[in-house]
Amino acid sequence: MAEFKGTEAALSFGSGYLANIGVIPTLIGKTDLIFADRLCHASLIEGCRLSGATLRIYRHCDMNHLEQLLAKRSPVKPTLIVTDGLFSMDGDIAPLADLTRLAKRYGANVYVDDAHGTGILGSTGRGTLEHCGVESSLPYHMGTLSKAIGSVGGYLAGSRSFIDYLINTCRAFIYTTASPPASAAAATAALRIIQEEPARRIRLWENRNRLVQALTSLGFQLGPSASPILPIIVGAPERAIRLAQTLLTFGVYAPAIRPPTVPPATSRIRLTVTADHTAEQLDEVVSALERAGQALRLI
Ligand SMILES: Cc1ncc(COP(=O)(O)O)c(C=O)c1O
Repeated sequence: MAEFKGTEAALSFGSGYLANIGVIPTLIGKTDLIFADRLCHASLIEGCRLSGATLRIYRHCDMNHLEQLLAKRSPVKPTLIVTDGLFSMDGDIAPLADLTRLAKRYGANVYVDDAHGTGILGSTGRGTLEHCGVESSLPYHMGTLSKAIGSVGGYLAGSRSFIDYLINTCRAFIYTTASPPASAAAATAALRIIQEEPARRIRLWENRNRLVQALTSLGFQLGPSASPILPIIVGAPERAIRLAQTLLTFGVYAPAIRPPTVPPATSRIRLTVTADHTAEQLDEVVSALERAGQALRLI
């Protein structure tokens, strides 16, 4: 992982969830401050709560709001800014270049969860930090082995001294069993494939663009997504469930996502395109969505 990410070292955890709940409390404490994006993953919020720091939420990807909160700190305390790189339920990308500049200006540290960006974003697939050009500005970041990497486990990538610090202080690393060898080997193989077979990533983006084009021309609202995570926002939870059930009868598995996972009135179907979907399969999905969307009067 360190070789792939271009960091001095990396550390694996039993899961991404464990990494977040374990590492954040090693970075920030009871008398400190955390600013977190409103749409941060649940495991990040859990880690923030466990740290005991005062948690303030800024509006989703709103750097003006974040700056207001940073400027208003009184007294100024050690501060950690917490964000997903690529947001799991909306598929949009955190403005990491602006966020990093703000953090530097106001003396805050940044913790990025790149669960969904790793293997997907950036010219070599290293993730959202590569995509946003901030790899050299952020000394560490977190991710999971359970998305593009297709295994199970979490990781932190960073400097040797940072990783040594975690090995000696992070309870979610110390007091639980490490990844089983088969999962670690699967993740290692996947990292090799990501680096050696860039054509897969190209195919993924072609698939994603094909689906976006077809769904947009049918009149579906895909939200702010800039990635292969494509939410079709339908509003009420019952509508999302009905859409998911109708799609399943057409042979398409696209789960409904409802509050509290997403904010009220934004229930959705979340499509996730992969490199292995064929053109025929994507056409089938579009046809199923057209029929289901018309039946439920969404388009
Ligand atoms: C953004 C994000 N962070 C962390 C996790 C947790 O990772 P894991 O499944 O490896 O525990 C997930 C989802 O699984 C996620 O979407």
